[in-house]
Amino acid sequence: MALFSFPNYEHIARELRSTLLLQGGQFTIGRYDNQELYAKVQGSVTGEHCLILGSIAPPDEQMLSLILLAHTLKKEEAGKVTAVLPYLAYSRQDKEKPGESLGTAWIGSLLKASGVDLVITVDVHSERDKKLLCLPVRSLSTARIFAEVLRNQSLTDAIIVAPDNGAISRCEEVKNAAGIPIGETPYFEKRRTEQGIIHQGPVGRVGARVVIIDDMLDTGGTLVSACEKLREAGVKEIYILVTHGLFTGSQWTKVWSLGVKRIFCTDTVPLRADIDTTNISILSVAPLIAGELSSTDKTAKRKIAGGR
Ligand code: R5P
Repeated sequence: MALFSFPNYEHIARELRSTLLLQGGQFTIGRYDNQELYAKVQGSVTGEHCLILGSIAPPDEQMLSLILLAHTLKKEEAGKVTAVLPYLAYSRQDKEKPGESLGTAWIGSLLKASGVDLVITVDVHSERDKKLLCLPVRSLSTARIFAEVLRNQSLTDAIIVAPDNGAISRCEEVKNAAGIPIGETPYFEKRRTEQGIIHQGPVGRVGARVVIIDDMLDTGGTLVSACEKLREAGVKEIYILVTHGLFTGSQWTKVWSLGVKRIFCTDTVPLRADIDTTNISILSVAPLIAGELSSTDKTAKRKIAGGR
């Protein structure tokens, strides 16, 4: 296996290279004078299983560079191309709306047409995504990582809350991994309207200390609204566990005035440089990805197994 990693994913690539027997693939992404992008791969990749580690999230240049690289690797006769996209952008464009693009399906077509054979991601947004992408997708669960946070932070007795219906199964998975009885998970009914989020709840009993679990914090609109309602319901202390920390804009910072003590999020999205991380903990998904890669391709032997 050869790893072709984009610079902003070096934090994950470093650990993959040191844990697995991976060759570092050399490539350049550049622009011609007329600003058209090109990709150039150095060395032979014939018959090789090539991993591309990066993102298809905005800026759009990221996606274009990644699919151009996939195309180039296949053109140079790579045996297999796996796109490791820790955060799968466009995954929320998975609902059929008259007159609107179905972004998830579109992304799937682009990846496939560009030569990607498999996508490995973390906590995919929905099961619908897997069908819409129309190519094999492996979604790795962060349940164990979050369960460890609950144990380390002595939060196993806090009430786990789902900010919307879609998050209930994630909460249950984390409870299961942490050995907490599944029971009922308090949740919110959520609807997005042109005016904003309409949130009703919490449905179910909450205590003084809660943990909200969701797949992503984008603008934070969902979490701010949930925290407001939880405060009204008498909650004093809130902890947030999210897989993908996009931290778009500044609305999300309102959570600090709503009883939120700490946000735990993984490093699937490179953290915005201007964010104050005093009360934010970043959890690495590199071990999760390394584990998947070593079982995907038996030639990638873990160092601990005596590989090197
Ligand atoms: C929704 O289905 C997702 O699971 C998240 O709750 C949501 O997309 C987060 O977005 P935002 O932070 O902008 O509310």
